[in-house]
Amino acid sequence: MQNNNNDINLAQQIPSITIEDEEFDYRSYLNAAELSAIEHEVAILETREAAGIEALKVVQQHRGWISDDSLVAIAQCLGISSAQLEGVATFYNLIYRQKVGHYVIHLCDSISCHLTGYDEILIAIKHHLGIEYGQTTADGQFTLLSNPCLGSCDKSPAMMINGIHYQNLTEQSVVAILNGLNLNLGESHD
Ligand code: FES
Repeated sequence: MQNNNNDINLAQQIPSITIEDEEFDYRSYLNAAELSAIEHEVAILETREAAGIEALKVVQQHRGWISDDSLVAIAQCLGISSAQLEGVATFYNLIYRQKVGHYVIHLCDSISCHLTGYDEILIAIKHHLGIEYGQTTADGQFTLLSNPCLGSCDKSPAMMINGIHYQNLTEQSVVAILNGLNLNLGESHD
């Protein structure tokens, strides 16, 4: 990443942009690291508008999900409408518009996985975590979401958790994976 501006100066250098809510100022909402990363993305693209998805990813990386306030702040920063940015956010299923758990399970529900044990894997996950699609465990550790093909059809059934792909799943292996992640989380809190 090549941005030699320090964070404070960068925040001050960003020009004022027409905002939808005059009470809301993205410069006091987004932190210096977020602003710096967004401006870096803007710098390598042709227009501020084109940086929408990358800006959403930046803020999600820092905050875990994209709240309404985050959406408005990013839209203001890029000089586009919130509605326009919402369209981008809802198009990408890896942008979360609701609070999610520490681990987000994307279980592939496309054809190859259906043919190789998707139903059993889904039941095993639901039973083990006690949640349905779209829900987060009470301890905030896991969210379960469905996902179109993850590109691992020759190694199905498959899922992705926080960007890591898990393939050739069985009912036993998926429970072992979830237990392992749970353990990691417990250790990282010690
Ligand atoms: S159908 Fe599941 S990974 Fe392609």
